[in-house]
Amino acid sequence: MKDILDELEARRSAARAGGGESRVAAQHAKGKLTARERVELLLDEGSFEEFDMFVAHRCTDFGMEKDRPAGDGVVTGWGTINGRQVYVFSQDFTVMGGSVSETHGAKICKIMDMAMQNGAPVIGINDSGGARIQEGVASLAAYGEVFQRNIEASGVVPQISLVMGPCAGGAVYSPAMTDFIFMVKDSSYMFVTGPDVVKTVTNEVVTAEELGGASTHTRKSSVADGAFENDVEALAEIRRLFDYLPLNNRQKAPVRPFFDDPGRIETSLDTLVPDNPNQPYDMKELILKIADEGDFFEVQRDFAANIIIGFIRLEGQTVGVVANQPMVLAGCLDIDASRKAARFVRFCDAFEIPILTFVDVPGFLPGTGQEYGGVIKHGAKLLFAYGEATVPKVTVLTRKTYGGAYVVMASKHLKADFNYAWPTAEVAVMGAKGAVEILYRSELGEPERIAARVKDYEDRFANPFVAAEKGFIDEVIMPHSTRRRVARAFAALRGKQAMMPWKKHDNIPL
Ligand code: HXC
Repeated sequence: MKDILDELEARRSAARAGGGESRVAAQHAKGKLTARERVELLLDEGSFEEFDMFVAHRCTDFGMEKDRPAGDGVVTGWGTINGRQVYVFSQDFTVMGGSVSETHGAKICKIMDMAMQNGAPVIGINDSGGARIQEGVASLAAYGEVFQRNIEASGVVPQISLVMGPCAGGAVYSPAMTDFIFMVKDSSYMFVTGPDVVKTVTNEVVTAEELGGASTHTRKSSVADGAFENDVEALAEIRRLFDYLPLNNRQKAPVRPFFDDPGRIETSLDTLVPDNPNQPYDMKELILKIADEGDFFEVQRDFAANIIIGFIRLEGQTVGVVANQPMVLAGCLDIDASRKAARFVRFCDAFEIPILTFVDVPGFLPGTGQEYGGVIKHGAKLLFAYGEATVPKVTVLTRKTYGGAYVVMASKHLKADFNYAWPTAEVAVMGAKGAVEILYRSELGEPERIAARVKDYEDRFANPFVAAEKGFIDEVIMPHSTRRRVARAFAALRGKQAMMPWKKHDNIPL
């Protein structure tokens, strides 16, 4: 018996050693942790239960039968994050470059199937040279199986990808179909075709970092939702994000103990909006001031900063926040902002996370760049996402909201539940100057008359009361009591049940 136990321990140690000391040292030298070290940091101490530690590939080409490392380059299993279950896979770059074989893929599929059956999220740590070259099409099939599960799990359990090394070619499409992608600066990259192919085909010279590093994907392409300094920070932040999310689409997000009075008055908010309507202010200040303990997990901070998205808690409950940011492009909606916010709204709706929207939007950004880029279709994404979302929706207008953007930003007409406005809010088809220039074109040569017309338009429309009279605004509230009003609104909506008409699925303008 003792011998058998010893053999088990010996096999376990061999599996845990991954690709061996020198490859582990090389991994560390790149500033990267190993697959197992990452799992240890991600999960609660001692909670990891591993599957398939002894799985080995079945390839016999290229002399592969002589090299069959236990685990086949990916560590899989489940554990807990702050006591809540999660399934994980972590690719081991020290074993054949973390490349994906038929069996490697099957290990990932196994935990994805279990995650879906048991209603727990999947976190995938990607660090791989891609398809196992020696296995050819069997490897592609393995990817295909994973992709299919990504699709089936979408909207059923949250899926989070951490890219902590190479992720290239078709391999990028698994993370791309998950709910969030996070990268590590300077040690991870994602691209469909690498710098060499790019050079050959387009003659562009570009480094891997420039083409698909964390900065590129968080600032330019918006493929990634966040970039972290190193593996340790990334894993700690994923634990933080995880705490905001429900385990699956049938459960609500966890309620955390809170020590922040929901009725807390913030008098500084009464002066947040400057007297000068053209002067910006920082919408993040409002978000931080109304959130429990000022805690805000922002997503896609460095992309389309004219809109802010992320998670806060109110009375311990997770709330998804969408807010125009007057500091960037005056808070205009554009293609990027619409896409960014639409996907977030859909995530929240899929996982029963209520949505709080702060609105200060002068309209859609004009220009040929926007029109040629399809702002019509992209803007429609956000409109559609808000309109189809059946979760509790609370909207607060802080300043201006004009034209189509007014309707898009979780207006009453898109079945928002509570629509509040600060006294500084203006709901109109457009700003006073623009309106007068159209209505009184013949008087444009007479500045005094025009000024009087502008004043008249402002007096009539530059306020929230016209909309409030029509019931499009439920209540005009004091800025200082926003946290209390919003918290009470969400409390009142905890039993909300709303359904869309039956359909196979919608046809959102993609
Ligand atoms: C088998 C691989 C491998 C792969 C790396 N290795 N990639 N083995 N299949 N795809 C092995 C190497 O042989 C080496 O083994 C070890 O992993 C580490 O690789 P290095 O090249 O030494 O590491 P590094 O210099 O850091 O370079 C990393 C790399 C490079 C840039 C990822 O390895 C590389 O270019 N690999 C090939 C990438 C690729 O073309 N993959 C296929 C893409 S197509 P030893 O024994 O020396 O440690 C694809 C399609 C997916 O993925 C389609 C889905 C539908």
